[in-house]
Amino acid sequence: MAVTKVSDEEIKSQYDYMNKIRSFNQGGKYFIFTLGCKLNEADSETMSGMLETMGFSKAESFDDAKIVIFNTCSIRENAEEKVFGKIGELKNIKDKNDMIICFAGCMSQEEHVIQKIKKSYSLIDIVFGTHNIYKFPELLYKKMVEKQNKVLDVLDIDGTIYEGLPVKRESTSQASVIIMNGCNNFCSYCIVPYVRGRERSRQPEEIIKEIEGLAKEGCKEVLLLGQNVNSYNPRDGYNFANLLSDIDKIDGINIIKFTSPHPKDFKDDVISVISKSKKISRVIHLPLQSGSTNILKAMNRGYTKEQYLELARKIKAKIPDALFTTDIIVGFPGETEEDFEETLDVVRKMNYEQVFMFIYSVRHGTRAEKMPNHIPEDVKSERFGRLKTLCDGMTEIGMNKYVGTVQKVLVEGESKTNKDVLTARTTSNKIVNFEGPKDLIGKEVEVKIVSQHVWFLKGELV
Ligand code: 5AD
Ligand code: SF4
Repeated sequence: MAVTKVSDEEIKSQYDYMNKIRSFNQGGKYFIFTLGCKLNEADSETMSGMLETMGFSKAESFDDAKIVIFNTCSIRENAEEKVFGKIGELKNIKDKNDMIICFAGCMSQEEHVIQKIKKSYSLIDIVFGTHNIYKFPELLYKKMVEKQNKVLDVLDIDGTIYEGLPVKRESTSQASVIIMNGCNNFCSYCIVPYVRGRERSRQPEEIIKEIEGLAKEGCKEVLLLGQNVNSYNPRDGYNFANLLSDIDKIDGINIIKFTSPHPKDFKDDVISVISKSKKISRVIHLPLQSGSTNILKAMNRGYTKEQYLELARKIKAKIPDALFTTDIIVGFPGETEEDFEETLDVVRKMNYEQVFMFIYSVRHGTRAEKMPNHIPEDVKSERFGRLKTLCDGMTEIGMNKYVGTVQKVLVEGESKTNKDVLTARTTSNKIVNFEGPKDLIGKEVEVKIVSQHVWFLKGELV
């Protein structure tokens, strides 16, 4: 499918809408409720950027917001009830604040959700999709100024890429940068290709310009985002390894992370670039999904158990300090006890830093939905429990290893639970809490780890 870049004229016309709204805006507030993955979080930062350009400022909660956006996620089945429940709860505040409720993100690309909104959710004023976020100012204008009843612009899921929208980032020291969007893999359980569309990559010049700009503003760390980053392919002869090595050269950026790569696309050139770099994180996310070759085949993952383990061995051989994290789905249709044991076997062999565990949930329209032998809920839960026990044990051993060491950390801000404590992250992504002056926020410092508390480490400034 052809990838079309949204034209400069179109983006300019959206800026015109932003300026028009700004000209009469009396300083209203907005609140964005973000669900799901880092890509959604990054999209929310673009929505914030547009809203701030329109003269809105961030509200602390729904209560004092004039504009509310639900940026939704479709990965799990039960999320829909939660979102619609939350929207229902806003009825009274909506009347009081003359609130405009917007529905965006992956769920807005699902036909049955749109039908539901049309039929039963008069509270929702604006719906836009994952591929046309750039149109939000125009849609808001139609609602606010032209007083259209319900403004819907969705479902036409094509391969667009847009550049030049304002972004309001949560942090000044770290930034998420989307490098590609969409997915062509059609793993049989996954709804992402249906709600995010086909793979399309931003041009490297645009990405590099953006990161150079961030570095000038004091950003130290970038997280490169995409559904399948290592199939980044903006044009012939330029790939993910090239992009990593170009970003590696940008002065001021000291930490480079990326997520998610696909094991089947993890090529030698990428391993080689990481091994030579002093900036690219050694924590490599290698989504396993299942350790059974039979299940991997049914999942359409494109690798066997042995190929996965061989890839990890190859990475370790070139990058001895590499650490792995992973995603695992428990209870995919047809998963036998033996299949599940294979997953446990890979988990033990890989000794993961962190495992993100998911219980399989049916997604409407995917191939797995129609597969035979769906696993009963109690069996899924029991297997999930066993995997969790194994992983918790590994995490504890992994965290203990840090105690007594000195770690270089990037200070992110005040701890959410205690304003007297700073929170930071090691290069291996572990949270470290320690006491120190506030002017360290956004800086890199060395901290001695004194204890571990399962989810975080406690440290002392060296
Ligand atoms: N059921 C359970 N987990 C899923 N994931 C994706 N689709 C499903 C599903 N239908 C998990 C995968 C993916 C992560 C982001 O979510 O493990 O890597
Ligand atoms: Fe979903 Fe598979 Fe694409 Fe990841 S690679 S987004 S799991 S289809």
